[in-house]
Parts: sequence; structure tokens; C-alpha cells
Amino acid sequence: MTSAESSSSSGPVLRWGIVSTGHIASVFARNLDQSRLGRLVAVGSRRQESARAFAGAWSISPDHAHGSLDELLADEAVDAVYVATPHPRHCEAVLAALIAGKHVLCEKPMAMTLDEVDRMQTAARRHERTLMEAWMYRCHPQTARVVELIRDGAIGELRHVQASFSFRADFDPQGRLWNRALGGGGILDVGGYPLSYARLLAGVANGRPFADPAELSGVGVLHPVSGSDAQASAVLKFPGDITAEISCGTWVQQDNVVRIYGTKGWIHVPSPFVVSRDLSPTSVWLHREGGDRPEEVIITPDRGLYAYEADGFAAAVARGELEVPACSWADTRGNITAQLEWCRQVGVDYA
Ligand SMILES: NC(=O)c1ccc[n+]([C@@H]2O[C@H](COP(=O)([O-])OP(=O)(O)OC[C@H]3O[C@@H](n4cnc5c(N)ncnc54)[C@H](OP(=O)(O)O)[C@@H]3O)[C@@H](O)[C@H]2O)c1
Repeated sequence: MTSAESSSSSGPVLRWGIVSTGHIASVFARNLDQSRLGRLVAVGSRRQESARAFAGAWSISPDHAHGSLDELLADEAVDAVYVATPHPRHCEAVLAALIAGKHVLCEKPMAMTLDEVDRMQTAARRHERTLMEAWMYRCHPQTARVVELIRDGAIGELRHVQASFSFRADFDPQGRLWNRALGGGGILDVGGYPLSYARLLAGVANGRPFADPAELSGVGVLHPVSGSDAQASAVLKFPGDITAEISCGTWVQQDNVVRIYGTKGWIHVPSPFVVSRDLSPTSVWLHREGGDRPEEVIITPDRGLYAYEADGFAAAVARGELEVPACSWADTRGNITAQLEWCRQVGVDYA
């Protein structure tokens, strides 16, 4: 961690600036309190008043409450930025931050096109800065435990994955969930969760960090006013004869669980994505073939979900690595390739 300060008690500290003052920006700020390797020092908003209010809420010095992205990026107290703007605004902020010499954790989906992905990753390589798409659940010990169960053959050979992330939001034609100019639609907002979870598990079963689907077939329903995908499902086939059914949406609540089926049992993950934001223990259920009742596998986190993410990122920075193991650049490219294909098949085109 070349530019980070040293803390007397807990080693190097990555100094974070947050780009935006929206919903997830606040969640991340709150979780940074529990981070072992980072602390929040600055914020950048489109408006000075929002930056000041956010700084006040999260104990950021008023000197580091910036009324523009450029001011935030010029702040020498900042080592890394967390980009939490609507998806179509990610690319410009990520490129500017990398050019300014900041490491970047960017919210999902990192990009709206593969060209944007390539430009961001090329810039990170050129400026030698760490870049990661923010799949927070990938950094949580529950996900590591599920991966371990699959790798250890707890359910035999992986055959099939079912996963959903779908919620009901009120329609707002200007809101980022619906307005396609702001990236509106379920596939880009939450479809990446079941998709990236299935890609992770299929990869593990194939001895790799992730796998890309050889086949993807999607259906969906577009909102009659906004034309954004309001519900969508897809079936996928991965190498190794592994299939998956995934679904997402912004106008219907689903159970939002992952079920993983193998030749010798199955695993139920009741809270696969937004895992235990509040430090409470979380469980997965292992149904072994022939077992008379499921085994509860309990995971007890020692920090919040986004603190694990921030610390996984900071650890990669400290090691001088440009990619973070929880989500490599090729993994991000694969996620976005599959999400855009899913969008195309349901009739959503952001161009
Ligand atoms: N990992 C997770 O758990 C999670 C959860 C929710 C969302 N997300 C991702 O995080 C990103 C932001 O989502 P959110 O729910 O936090 O959104 P949000 O509440 O609408 O906040 C977005 C913020 O971005 C800034 N912004 C910059 N340009 C904007 C524009 N043209 N229109 C509107 N806002 C603009 C605004 O902050 P200023 O006014 O301060 O500039 C706004 O408050 C999305 O990419 C989403 O996919 C991730």
C-alpha cells in the first residue's frame, strides 16, 4: 500500500473517498467503521450541500467534503475511491479516478458495454492501480464456505444451480431502477447476482475461479412505460454438464435464495447476497444424500458485508495487485458479457 498512511495499532490503512451520496454510498460508509484495513476520509458529490451533509453524517472532515468529482480526485488524502453512482456514470468516474492515481472499487455492473470494461481495465493496467467490480458477497466468509463445500464434494458432483434476486419497487419513471438512461432494469441492477453466483459455482466445479456459460437463453417482461426489464429469467449451460436457472426483477418480490444440486445432495443458501449486514451469524443448509435431516453450517462474521469487501480490496492494494481475487478482471468481463446477452434476448438495448 504505497500511498496509504500507517496506523500505530492496526498496520497500514487505505484511505477511502466515496463518489456519490446515494443509498449504497451510505451503507458502505457505515460498514467502513468495521473495516480492519481502511477508513473513510472524503466524499465527492455533484452538489456541495450533499457532500457536506454526507460528511457530517459519517464523520468526514468538512475539508474533505467535495462538491465535484474532480475536487475529490485532487484530494491527496485519498488513496482509493468507491464509485457508487448509477451504472452509466461508472466509466467516466472510474477512468478519471485511475488517471488521478486512485485505486478503484466500482459498483456493479461496472460498465454498460464491453468497450467500457476494456477501457477501464486498460487504464488500471497503464496507471498501475487496483480495480474491482464490487460484488460484495464474493468477499464474505459465507461464500467461501459454500465454495469449500462444493470443492470438498459435500454434495458430490455439481449438476444444477437455482438462484434469484428480485424485489418489488414502486414505479418511478425518473428513478435509476426504471429509467433506461440511468441503466434501469433488473438484469443490470440485480440479475448479475444470481448470474455471477452460478458462474462462480460452475467455475469451482471445473477447478477454476469462475466459468462462462456455453449457452444462455433468456426471457423477460418489459415495463410498458419505461421499457426496462421488470422481470427476467434465464437458463444457462456451463462446461461440465452444469445447468442453472436464474431470475431477477424490479416489480416482483422473490425468495432470493440459492439452491445448489449435486449428485449426492443439495445446499440451500437462504441469504446468499446481502449477507448479514449487521454481524449476525448466517447459515447454509447441507442436505446430504441419505441424511435424515439437513446439517446447519453456521458462519459467524466478524465485520459487516461491505467491510469484508473493503478489506479484500485493501489487502490486494497492499500486495501491489491490480486485480482482487474475489472478482478478477476476466470475471467482470464474463459477467457483463452474459448480462448484456441476457438483456439482448429479452429486448433491452441501452444503445
Ligand atoms: N452492492 C450493493 O449492495 C448495491 C446496492 C444498491 C446499489 N448498488 C449499485 O450502486 C450504484 C448506485 O445505486 P444506489 O442505489 O446507491 O443509487 P442512488 O441511491 O440513486 O444514488 C446514486 C447517486 O449517484 C449520484 N449521481 C451521479 N450522477 C447521477 C445521475 N445522473 N443521476 C442520479 N444520481 C447521480 C448521486 O449522488 P450525488 O447527488 O451525491 O452526486 C446519487 O445520489 C448502482 O450502480 C447500483 O447497481 C449496489
